[in-house]
Amino acid sequence: MNILVYPGSFDPITIGHMDIIRRAVKLCDQLIVAVLPNSNKKAAFSVKERVELIQASIDAEKDFTLAERVKVDAYHGLLVDYCRNVGAMATVRGIRRESDFPYEAEQVAANRLLYREYEAILLPCRPDLAFTSSTIVREVAKYGGDISGMVPQVCCDYIFKRLQLKKQPAEVKINGG
Ligand code: PNS
Repeated sequence: MNILVYPGSFDPITIGHMDIIRRAVKLCDQLIVAVLPNSNKKAAFSVKERVELIQASIDAEKDFTLAERVKVDAYHGLLVDYCRNVGAMATVRGIRRESDFPYEAEQVAANRLLYREYEAILLPCRPDLAFTSSTIVREVAKYGGDISGMVPQVCCDYIFKRLQLKKQPAEVKINGG
């Protein structure tokens, strides 16, 4: 069985991630969407929340192929160890624009040093989703903006309310703002 792993922070899932899931599942027998830690980022959502939001987004598609062939998981450790554990043939990641490439290439090179069998597929994103990111979602929601065009509809309210709750009061007030 050809297994692909789609790793990421998914903090939270966006419609860009969903597009990669829909396309990547066609390239394998089983796609595992794996929430992994990114030590450069402090997550806004817990691992459990992120897994549940991804699963809810997949379920909401009501698509037989997705339901049968996509599994959502979480792992606290190195991506290569996870890939070995599940017997993945490769990982898949979306490339939104040219500036994503150096980071992805560095990750691939590091992973290949750790695991000789490691292989990676980089899928170019849909151009209209090139500027959709979890970072933008968190920023827009924090200031009360509309994120409905950026995240799967089924989890839009949850993500918005949750990020509003996390909003910290401003430490310094400028011009009474
Ligand atoms: O969505 P992100 O934050 O760009 O995903 C990055 C992620 C989670 C895929 C990456 O940080 C990762 O693989 N984390 C697990 C730890 C690891 O294996 N790091 C790479 C070795 S250099």
